[in-house]
This record gives sequence, C-alpha cells and structure tokens, in this order.
Amino acid sequence: MIQFSNVTQDIKLLKTPFCGSWAGVTLVKGEQNVLIDSGANSETVDECIVPALKAEGLEPDDLDLIVCTHSHGDHVGGHYRLHQISKAKIAAFADYADKIRDPLKYNKLIRAPFPKYSPPPSSSLKGVEPDVFLRDGDVVGGRLRMVHTPGHDTDCVTWYDEITKTAITGDSLQANGTELQGTGLYIDVEMYRNSVKRLLDMDIENVIAGHDYLPVGSVALGKEKARWYLESCLTLIDTYQILVDEFLRRGIRNLPDVALELIKHVGGRIPQFIFLPMFTTRAHIASSKVK
Ligand SMILES: [Fe+2]
Repeated sequence: MIQFSNVTQDIKLLKTPFCGSWAGVTLVKGEQNVLIDSGANSETVDECIVPALKAEGLEPDDLDLIVCTHSHGDHVGGHYRLHQISKAKIAAFADYADKIRDPLKYNKLIRAPFPKYSPPPSSSLKGVEPDVFLRDGDVVGGRLRMVHTPGHDTDCVTWYDEITKTAITGDSLQANGTELQGTGLYIDVEMYRNSVKRLLDMDIENVIAGHDYLPVGSVALGKEKARWYLESCLTLIDTYQILVDEFLRRGIRNLPDVALELIKHVGGRIPQFIFLPMFTTRAHIASSKVK
C-alpha cells in the first residue's frame, strides 16, 4: 500500500500512480485537514488516497477542504469521487472554476492545437461544482495561501504554507520536465518566468512539486535547496531559449522538428506523443528574436 510520507510539520506527500510514474497528492493535517490535488481518477481515490488517509487515522469525511494546484487531469481526476464519498468542500480558483466543472473539456482543448502529436483525451474525467471560490492571496485552512503562478497553464497556483514556509507547487515549476514529458511544459515564456521570479521573491524554505522533475526531483528541503530548485528552473528557461534560437538560426523551423531537437538537446526521452514539448517550443519560438 502506498502511504503518505512526512515532508514538513503536518504536511505529507502521497505519490499516486500516473502513467507508470506518479502524481503528488499533498495532505495538510491539522485543525482543518486540506487535501491538495486528487490524483488521476476515481480508482486512485478508492485504491490509494482513501487507504492512505485511513493509515493517517483519517476518514474521507475528516477532510475539510479539497483544493488543487491546477485543473489538469492528473491533479483533479479524483475530485468527482472524493466529492461523492466525503463532506469536504471543493475549492476552485474563481477565475477558472469552469475548469473544475468540466475538466474533460480542457483535457480535449489542450490536445486540440496538435492533434497528430497528442494522445486521446482522458475520457473518464468528470467535474464537480465547486463550493468555495478563491482568489490570489486567499488563505485556507488557517495557513495555506494561494499564489497564482501561471505558465505551465493559466490556472496554476502554488500553495504557500505560512507556518513551515513550504511551497506546494504542483506543476508550476517545471525544471526540465518529467521523464514522461521530454522537456518542461509551459505555454508562455514570460508568464512562466514571472511566476518563477515571484516564488524566488518569497520566503520559501521547502518545495514540494507535483511530480519528479529532472534534474531537481520533487522535494527540496531547507532554504538553500529550495532556492537552488527555483534558480534551476529559471536557468533552464534561458537554456531552452538559447537552444531554440540556435535551431531557428540553423533553419530548423518546423515546430515538431524544433521540439524534437530541443528534447534531444536537453537530454529528455522522446515521448510517444510530443504535444507537451511542442507547447514549450512554440512559446520559445514566439519569444525568439531570431526571425
Ligand atoms: Fe501534472
């Protein structure tokens, strides 16, 4: 059985199965129990999250609030099932509440620009009607501040724990991507850069990411390591831009070809579907000064 592991005071990470790797579900245990993200689907809830909660002495009804880091399927796929079996309230980023109501619609939308290079949508995704609507800066559970950190997608947030100064970043920090992706994934370079800078300006002592990101991993404990994690993400943005500029100069201009070249150069494994690196590559072509 997969169990929550302690990261910092009352903050626990559960690595739920996702495409042969894992997606993080974080529990902040206290006067109010808050679950951040819900895994990829209902089975994850029944087979992993509920047993792991029980091992922590919690029933689904002991959860007070379910929030997410963003509305991609591997982070909100368990919301529907949790809503069925728990009295916990479901929170949504107010500006993007529709994504919680209908995550399948957005799962299809992210595949729409590059249909030839995208896997089929996760058709089992079901939405829920949120109970709580949050904005940038709102605090939940008496300790978790929502910080808008778009770039990977427009609705990405970081949950900043004011007690332990831990940033639960979901997919807001991409570094060099996961081993499934090929490269980091962001849809807009400046949006992403500004989010990494916003986090660098905060007093962060620990980072918990939603996946294992290359080469920085998923958890950074201590101020120095947290800073290194964030700075690595910032440096990789410049690395990607320099590489894409170089490919363009060499006359490689067809988007899938540029994306493949980028994956090869940053050391990623070429995934079966390259739609995610294509988003990042498209963003870097758009910000390139090479015309
Ligand atoms: Fe993810």
